Amino acid sequence: MTDYVAPPRTGEPSTEEILKTRKEHMFPSVTHYYRKPLHISKASMQFVWDVESKKYLDAFGGIVTISAGHNHPRIKARMKQWISEDRPQHTTVFYLSEPVAQLAARLTKLTPKGLNRAFFTNSGSEANEMAILLARQYTKRTEIIALKHAYHGGTIGTMSLVAQHTWKWGGPGLAGISHAAQPNCYRCPWGAKPDTCALECANDVEETIKTTTTGEIAGMIVEPIQGVGGFVTPPKEYFPRIHAIVKKYGGIYISDEVQTGVGRTGNHWFGVLHNGIIPDMMTMAKGFGNGASIGGIVTRDEIADSMKGKIHFNTYAGNPWATMQAEETLAILEEENITQKAANLGELIMGGLRELQKKSKIVGDVRGRGLLIGIELVKDKQSKAYATEETMEVLEEARERGLLIGKGGLYGNVIRLTPPMCITEKDAQEIVRIFGESVLAVEKKMGY
Ligand SMILES: Cc1ncc(COP(=O)(O)O)c(C=O)c1O
Repeated sequence: MTDYVAPPRTGEPSTEEILKTRKEHMFPSVTHYYRKPLHISKASMQFVWDVESKKYLDAFGGIVTISAGHNHPRIKARMKQWISEDRPQHTTVFYLSEPVAQLAARLTKLTPKGLNRAFFTNSGSEANEMAILLARQYTKRTEIIALKHAYHGGTIGTMSLVAQHTWKWGGPGLAGISHAAQPNCYRCPWGAKPDTCALECANDVEETIKTTTTGEIAGMIVEPIQGVGGFVTPPKEYFPRIHAIVKKYGGIYISDEVQTGVGRTGNHWFGVLHNGIIPDMMTMAKGFGNGASIGGIVTRDEIADSMKGKIHFNTYAGNPWATMQAEETLAILEEENITQKAANLGELIMGGLRELQKKSKIVGDVRGRGLLIGIELVKDKQSKAYATEETMEVLEEARERGLLIGKGGLYGNVIRLTPPMCITEKDAQEIVRIFGESVLAVEKKMGY
């Protein structure tokens, strides 16, 4: 399977040296996947190679960041040309440059009608910080509702929105944030089944507003599918109900599309649009820049206009290098009809995983949409005990077989599949095959 030979390592640090340096000179919070850390040497479209020239099909896409493909030739060509012509790699937004305007124009063609004002940041956390700031500025209120198990970033403000203890530390964050129930059909807190569900989780948003806030909220922030939370996919009917509740209490609805944006969920450009509502604001990052450090926020005119008279500055936000990559990414995804492609390939993978679920003892749930697919592993399908160790082993087995996958969930027992969207049907079949083999190997090894 090897068609790339890593260059001889002349003067470059080895895997062991990198590990040692990280340990000695970086924060210990910088951690790594796998018992033997993966040291990537080359990346091209849906594949990466390690320093031993082993080839992997990347079904995690650098944590959902690679959308068009690693080192996509069109993005590479555009970057090379820009540099070769000595165009500005960075310049202040106080001067004009083309890529940021091109990006704003292209992005707002893909967003729902009305969401036609954009602002760019360097990350998803910054985009969510801006969303909260703007919600407060527009409504002149401060309280925000988020969901349990949510992940919205790693800054103090966004950590306050996060509701998983593993990602939420460092003491009290922003005041005025309340969390409503997680809309998790596999583990419904009310014990409801699809035929008995009365959307208690949606009603809990109103209960949370009435019991933990002044009743006058600035807004609510929601991921259409919880990413770090384990690809928890609420029923479609959940969204119109919570949207109506947010409106009733005068808040603005913010959809965090950092993982679900730019076509990944199939059929629509943004995850929330599957659910029959148009949010007041959307934030994005990750696949938006295909790996470039960029985040974005889009909103309506009147909400953006509430910034009039305020100076807001972010040195790198909207820089040519990152905005150029994001613009080219969107152009590629549009031309390749990625929303349709993600829907079709997602169905193919999901179908294969559902077959696996029937014969596996530990595949408890298969969920998600398009090319954002979660597989919850459990020790026992009755008790649904979290299969945390088994999940780690599945990651190792898949790696051995040349497939990179991710994990998530509060208990680390949900496999996350988010391949670059340039994968082919053959790759989709490979993902199902290798993943299935890995799960069954773990079951055998661990005595199931
Ligand atoms: C849904 C969601 N929002 C926000 C963020 C924060 O983005 P960043 O890590 O770029 O700051 C993440 C990151 O994983 C995310 O998954």
